Amino acid sequence: MRVPKGHPFYVQDVRYAARAKDGGRGEFINPIMLLISCLDKHLRPKAVLIAKQLNSSVDSTRSLKDLYNRSLPKEQPQFALVLDEQGLALQQLGKKTPGPIRVDFEGGSVAHRRKFGGGSGQMIAKAVGVKLSRPLSVLDCTAGLGKDAFVLASLGCDMTLLERTPIVATLLQNGLERALGSGDYDLQAICQRMNLVPQDSLAYLQARVAEGNKMDVVYLDPMFPERTKSAQIKKDMLAFHSIVGADEDADNLLPLAREVARYRVVVKRPRKAPFLNDSQPSYQLEGKTSRYDIYVNGKLP
Ligand SMILES: C[S@@+](CC[C@H](N)C(=O)[O-])C[C@H]1O[C@@H](n2cnc3c(N)ncnc32)[C@H](O)[C@@H]1O
Repeated sequence: MRVPKGHPFYVQDVRYAARAKDGGRGEFINPIMLLISCLDKHLRPKAVLIAKQLNSSVDSTRSLKDLYNRSLPKEQPQFALVLDEQGLALQQLGKKTPGPIRVDFEGGSVAHRRKFGGGSGQMIAKAVGVKLSRPLSVLDCTAGLGKDAFVLASLGCDMTLLERTPIVATLLQNGLERALGSGDYDLQAICQRMNLVPQDSLAYLQARVAEGNKMDVVYLDPMFPERTKSAQIKKDMLAFHSIVGADEDADNLLPLAREVARYRVVVKRPRKAPFLNDSQPSYQLEGKTSRYDIYVNGKLP
């Protein structure tokens, strides 16, 4: 579906998302039409900047209410990035679509987990080998909305976050900016340990291998392609899944990750999923719905 030139909705055809099974050459196979909505004139310059980054345009006439829960006429965008005083949110348009997705490190489930969730006793912390007394450098090759990276950063890890889907990287960047601008010093300190690089991990890992530049731990949590039943995907995350697609090239990341990791590679998988790249891990940690496959390169200090 294409938006005709001069369409009043100021939309461009933004092709990002899943790469074909082509080893990550970066072909765009999920055509996504996106508009950037911003009603607040003080936020408009920022919205324009975001639109520029995403090769889209700003619509400053319709509220979030106007944008969803309506039948979509033909040739309308399916997604909007809405910028308001609460930050940037991804909204799927159309009737009965779920509410907006935003990166919120100050509130919501992530903040709750930081305050009340089991600290270094959490399974992800055990999988990575977190010890509060010695911070690890961790390369998160599949940052997504930054939840796992935030947990690890809140436990002292120095995180580098790689995200290749521009819409997702933009949401994450906005969440980090808001947290850094909040009055919460602990939160600021955590987010200062999260360095976002909006890039494909494959090229990034290749460059590190060539330079012999290691990180303590490499973390991988690619989308799992065979999540067919929508019941397996939380309804509120459907828009995220439509934008990102299935990370069908994820197998390629593991061999490079194993070269870059000084101590270990940690792969998060759905509990019943096959091993990434068919590679048997050194050991596993299993939870109710997901598991961590750990590939050990060396003993943690
Ligand atoms: C399942 S999500 C990760 C969720 C994340 N662990 C969290 O806690 O929010 C997978 C993400 O990895 C990204 N991704 C997959 N392959 C990538 C690659 N080769 N380079 C960079 N990002 C990648 C996808 O765009 C998607 O946003």
